[in-house]
Amino acid sequence: MEPRHFLTLRDLTPVELRQLLGRATELREQRHEGLIHEPLRGRVLGMIFEKSSTRTRVSFEAGMAQLGGHAIFLSPRDTQLGRGEPLEDTARVVSRMVDVVMIRTFGHDLLERFAAHSRVPVINGLTDQFHPCQLLADMQTFHEHRGDIAGKRVVWLGDGNNMCHSYINAAELFDFRLRISCPSEYAPEARWLESSNVELMEDPGEAVAGADLVVTDVWASMGQEEEQQRRKTDFAPYRVTRSLMDRANDDALFMHCLPAHRGEEVDAEVIDGPQSVVWDEAENRLHAQKALLEFLVLQDTNSK
Ligand code: CP
Ligand code: NVA
Repeated sequence: MEPRHFLTLRDLTPVELRQLLGRATELREQRHEGLIHEPLRGRVLGMIFEKSSTRTRVSFEAGMAQLGGHAIFLSPRDTQLGRGEPLEDTARVVSRMVDVVMIRTFGHDLLERFAAHSRVPVINGLTDQFHPCQLLADMQTFHEHRGDIAGKRVVWLGDGNNMCHSYINAAELFDFRLRISCPSEYAPEARWLESSNVELMEDPGEAVAGADLVVTDVWASMGQEEEQQRRKTDFAPYRVTRSLMDRANDDALFMHCLPAHRGEEVDAEVIDGPQSVVWDEAENRLHAQKALLEFLVLQDTNSK
């Protein structure tokens, strides 16, 4: 049987996603109680990073160790990938040796090509188009703080980037209303905006009215470093400030996938303030991905 991949949130059904996040919360509680749970003993995760990372690397590597398995960090600098070995050949070889692969890369097509030639499940650790693992953590965090997100209003401020695209997928799968507020030239492509759960609203002050969750991200993503200065000017009205948060609902939460730039996309008093749940959000990368690894690896074993 073909392995089950996690390239976007859409690779899981709404029911599977909710079960997975319930499991993530259980794993979080188990870890906080100090319980040992090692269902992936003897299993290996291969992690290919073509871009930098703190959270994704540490959460996958620590998560795999906590589940009783092992993780291998691979960078193009030290592997034959960086010297031109075809991605397809790398996928064929690596997937004969490990039980699951995580990749962080540039074009989403690279991830799809790798997955098409892999014998084992492949997980998207971020591409230029999507960041689904972060959404698992964000949805888990909202649920733990405020309950079910279905029917709630989420406002995305800033760039229509990989995180924004994953929020669009999440809006449909978790059934919340998503308002995206960004300068028109940075809006997500029209093909992502077909869902009736999603609307664009250029004015950030109007957009945040009635928000249950306000989310932002860096204005220049990895690979866009040379656009940084121009983007700082273009996005200036979209900074998440105290006065903008005051227009959201009183119990609105603030999230950011991190790393953050205080004084650019968010003010320090917001990200370090009482409505911010960014540290729980970051921690939940660990628990959500452990639930994902358990789900994909054990399901893959049972199907072989
Ligand atoms: N949020 C996130 O993916 O962080 P890293 O780039 O540090 O992995
Ligand atoms: N949009 C950001 C997310 C980093 C986790 C980037 O791609 O750089």
